[in-house]
Amino acid sequence: MTRKILVAYASRYGSTREIAGAVARALEKAGNIVDCMNVMDVDDITPYEAVVAGSPIYMGKWLVEAVDFVKKFCVELNEKPLAVFAVGYSMKEETDVIRRSASASMSEVRIYVRPQVEGLFAGKFDPEGMSRADLEIMKMTGAVPGDARDWSKVARWAEALPPILFTPDN
Ligand SMILES: Cc1cc2nc3c(=O)[nH]c(=O)nc-3n(C[C@H](O)[C@H](O)[C@H](O)COP(=O)(O)O)c2cc1C
Repeated sequence: MTRKILVAYASRYGSTREIAGAVARALEKAGNIVDCMNVMDVDDITPYEAVVAGSPIYMGKWLVEAVDFVKKFCVELNEKPLAVFAVGYSMKEETDVIRRSASASMSEVRIYVRPQVEGLFAGKFDPEGMSRADLEIMKMTGAVPGDARDWSKVARWAEALPPILFTPDN
């Protein structure tokens, strides 16, 4: 059954935008019509039957524009199926503690909405093109540059969404 789904993302350096793109492609492959947009470009979510929203984690939190998106549309988001995901470089070494901390990046989001599904993905650290301030912070954490994104994990997560999101009572 064809459904119209919005994948809305925030992204400072593009790695979360690419993950959102992969989620959108997987949903399209499953026969859905998908719009994949930066949260800042979304001004109406009424055409969509479900929404997937994602943000990278910066200093333990979703980017402010992603939280603002959720706040702005919280009434409608609470009436539609909703999946959220967070992308953090720390997730490249997945442990319970790291997963809990990555999940806590969405604490503020959970004040406004009740997502049916939450995803946590490893991100990318590419010093090229990064602001000096951001680079300093990453250096202080001792992070080693790399791309830890696991495309098959992202695809599996996205492929599992429709049956969860579109099951009555979810
Ligand atoms: C200043 C700064 C702070 C960050 N804070 C976190 C963090 O708290 N937890 C985490 O897992 N990753 C953190 N990261 C890593 C980013 O979440 C990761 O690089 C992500 O892929 C960036 O997404 P983007 O390219 O869409 O902006 C941080 C990166 C920077 C530059």
